[in-house]
Amino acid sequence: MKLKKGIKLKERFLSIETPQECSGITLFRYAGTFLGMWNIEGCFILVDNIFIDSGNPNYSRENMRRYLATLDKKREWRILNTHMHEDHVGGNRLIQNELGAEIYSPESVQDFSFVSGLMDLVWGRPKMFCYSMIDRDEYITDKGRTIEVIPAPGHSPGHTVYRIIPDNIIYSGDAIPVPARKRYVTLGEDYVTELESLKKMLGYAEAGTRFISAHHGIVTDSVKLIQARIAGMTGVVHRVSEAASAGITGVEQIGREVFGKPEFLYSTLGNQLRCREDWTIQSILDSLEMTNI
Ligand SMILES: [Fe+2]
Repeated sequence: MKLKKGIKLKERFLSIETPQECSGITLFRYAGTFLGMWNIEGCFILVDNIFIDSGNPNYSRENMRRYLATLDKKREWRILNTHMHEDHVGGNRLIQNELGAEIYSPESVQDFSFVSGLMDLVWGRPKMFCYSMIDRDEYITDKGRTIEVIPAPGHSPGHTVYRIIPDNIIYSGDAIPVPARKRYVTLGEDYVTELESLKKMLGYAEAGTRFISAHHGIVTDSVKLIQARIAGMTGVVHRVSEAASAGITGVEQIGREVFGKPEFLYSTLGNQLRCREDWTIQSILDSLEMTNI
């Protein structure tokens, strides 16, 4: 099923497929838009009885409820979350209500009030759910697959990826950024730690692990994709370091040096969006200060 792009405020797209190359893993795809000016696609998966993430809060509840009704309620359903951003836990409550799923997260959140009114409108704000903290190094599915817990912090403090064994597939959540030269981060994101986690992911990719990324879907060339992100982000860190060494002190001024003019959406909507360039610069400056580079 293909996403139809176009001018609409809220995106309800949801497709559910079991791609041949994924050994029986179910792939759910959703999307978000803002009047056609931006469009983000995402995905989450179901491995036997374990969901990994659950998508944004705006995809069609009706379609998802219809799908969940086809599943056997007697199985022990679980959700493992990569992190507590709204587009990864947006289906938690629905899946928990319909299937009684136990939810495990690597980090905690009290509520989702950090999702601004505008983001709520176009992308969605999750309803709260009951969850426990991740409490083991691996989870076993009811069909005998192992899901290994691999910390990959940076995008959020506790961000975690999951490797499915024996398939040797990592669901990497947001560990692989969408743009190669990542410009905007969310509050609490640590740019340099994220870069270190990417290097860890590259090690897995080089050893033959395949990747399903929340915003790239099934990755066809993981090594190439991750290398491009490492190169782009390393370049940004170097440029920030050079600007700081040259005596430029303001984060906004450094931002102009490194990234050029602000983009229209970000300069107009500001705090209504979840990502900011000045947080990127500040995060890198903080790391440089800590390591005395
Ligand atoms: Fe995220």
